[in-house]
Amino acid sequence: MKRITSPSEYQQVYQESVQQPEKFWADVASDFVWRKKWDKVLEWDFHKPEVKWFIGGKMNITENCIDRHLPVRANQTALIWEPNDPQEEYRSITYQELYDQVCRVANMLKNHGVKKGDRVCIYMPMIPEVAFAMLGCARIGAVHSVVFAGFSSGSLVDRINDAGCKLVLTSDGSFRGDKKIDLKSIIDEALLKCPSVEKTIVYKRSGSSVKMKSGRDFWWHDEIKKATSTCEPEVMDSEDLLFILYTSGSTGKPKGMVHTCGGYMVYTSYTFQTAFQYQPGQIYWCTADVGWITGHSYILYGPLASGATSLMFEGIPSWPDMGRFWHVAEKHRVNIFYTAPTAIRSLEKAPLSFIHQYDLHTIKVLGTVGEPINEEAWHWYQEHIGRNQCPVIDTWWQTETGGFMISPIAHVTKLKPAYATLPLPGVQPAVMDENGKELTENGVEGRLTLKFPWPAMARTIYGDHQRFKDTYFSTFPGKYFTGDGCKRDEEGYYRITGRVDDIIIVSGHNMGTAEVESAIDEHSAVCESAVVGYPHDIKGQGIYAYVICYDKPHEEDKLRSEIRDLVSKIIGPIAKPDKIQFVSGLPKTRSGKIMRRILRKVAEGETSNLGDTSTLLDPAIVDEIKSGAL
Ligand code: WTA
Repeated sequence: MKRITSPSEYQQVYQESVQQPEKFWADVASDFVWRKKWDKVLEWDFHKPEVKWFIGGKMNITENCIDRHLPVRANQTALIWEPNDPQEEYRSITYQELYDQVCRVANMLKNHGVKKGDRVCIYMPMIPEVAFAMLGCARIGAVHSVVFAGFSSGSLVDRINDAGCKLVLTSDGSFRGDKKIDLKSIIDEALLKCPSVEKTIVYKRSGSSVKMKSGRDFWWHDEIKKATSTCEPEVMDSEDLLFILYTSGSTGKPKGMVHTCGGYMVYTSYTFQTAFQYQPGQIYWCTADVGWITGHSYILYGPLASGATSLMFEGIPSWPDMGRFWHVAEKHRVNIFYTAPTAIRSLEKAPLSFIHQYDLHTIKVLGTVGEPINEEAWHWYQEHIGRNQCPVIDTWWQTETGGFMISPIAHVTKLKPAYATLPLPGVQPAVMDENGKELTENGVEGRLTLKFPWPAMARTIYGDHQRFKDTYFSTFPGKYFTGDGCKRDEEGYYRITGRVDDIIIVSGHNMGTAEVESAIDEHSAVCESAVVGYPHDIKGQGIYAYVICYDKPHEEDKLRSEIRDLVSKIIGPIAKPDKIQFVSGLPKTRSGKIMRRILRKVAEGETSNLGDTSTLLDPAIVDEIKSGAL
């Protein structure tokens, strides 16, 4: 892979990648192991929409992530696992051990009847076995659907049924800080409503007591013993499904984003090496959970396909104390550290002594992802964690894009605080105004779209191609619409300003307002609700819910906590509303559409300048809402 070492080289490579994208990506792809070379690099039509990369190519991503490294780095650490509890031993897994473990899981799945194309749900904590599970699926061509282990049974039911999963890989429980969460019992509850699931395999992590249903539930430690440690990789077509990962949408139903094998592999590995300028032997740590795209692309596939050493962390930044991240970084001599703005903002509040007691001099590159990073957090991160010597790589991308899109290149791109800076090679952004006109100048602000495909882009929404088209390709025909707003400054640098649709980003997690509303509406006292985001110091955005009850609530606080518990039970604790305001009505237009703009402004603390309210069915409701604002 050709490295970019200077801004002028970036300009040159970028121009080449735009002028001859097929040649550019074919060159990048030739670094990988293909069982059969592709016949054609790209076919695409954003109107249909249809995108295919490396057509006719045959490969297996695990062969590229593991087998091909064995001749040179069998004894190099592939994964370092740092447990939740610092008293517990960490684990180092070499590429050779990774090979054995992944093959065993692959054979275990085969023994239980899993075949190419079958969907497997993975609902597990951040332990090495979750990596073995994902790669084990990929080894045999089964499609994994990882569900973040913080989601509750309602979310699991939706995701398992939508994908028609045949088997679930899970664990008895998980640790998060001083809490223990019983994952198996959440699975048990979900499976009452998931007819497609035939079996579960349960890894023993927390020692929680679990109920095993005979014939359906099996212990991982029993089953893995029956599996041998070699397994030929299934030969996959570039465009065969690799995984489904759900992300929130504007309706209550999450979208199962479909990623395919060839392009995803090439792109995640290329962008990992390019943006972070990863050097062989470096220790790289991404603090995300594998339940999100960041964990898929940049804990697992991108780094392993690059032969890197990737650190996985089971715990949380604040336990046993606010120095945990820095402790782990020192302990494992981390060189590249990649986290989320919400974590940075929460750590910023802690005394600096939590940082100063650790030696962070090994860190050379810092990264951030998930939401816009405010300038203050950016500077704090660079000064206190980067000792003013490390670039901050602000990577803008999405579950849908599969990999980094707009991002600085470490030690190459001139940085600008709070800017994701420039598109990576092969990425062609276009800023659009509200009328659908492309703004071709610099110094503009508008909606961010992409006008040319890139290898890791999602190919469809599982089982609903029409929704894929409607959501991403209809607002600006012929372009992929990201749902984000952005500025492009005089130098052509991009700053992502946040979502322009009904998705809010809470602590870096996407949340559809409709999803939260439908959970709130499940409460028997609730008639209707409307949810918006508001600025929150640490979470970036908090969740503000306006709730109409059938009868005026007597005990508001009691009802608030019931609603919060219910949302937590249906979706997961991350979706709990921060503020709940009881109202007698919502500002609706005559056609019945909720004017969220008004609700957003009130939630942001703005009570004047609410804009034109004359088209509302009942303008008086706005005064009531304003006076009751929390
Ligand atoms: C937001 C996470 C500003 C954005 C990889 C995007 C960002 C959504 C950044 C996707 C960033 C992600 N700066 N905003 N560096 N990175 N976002 O699917 O709104 O969980 O559309 O993917 O997060 O979130 P997702």
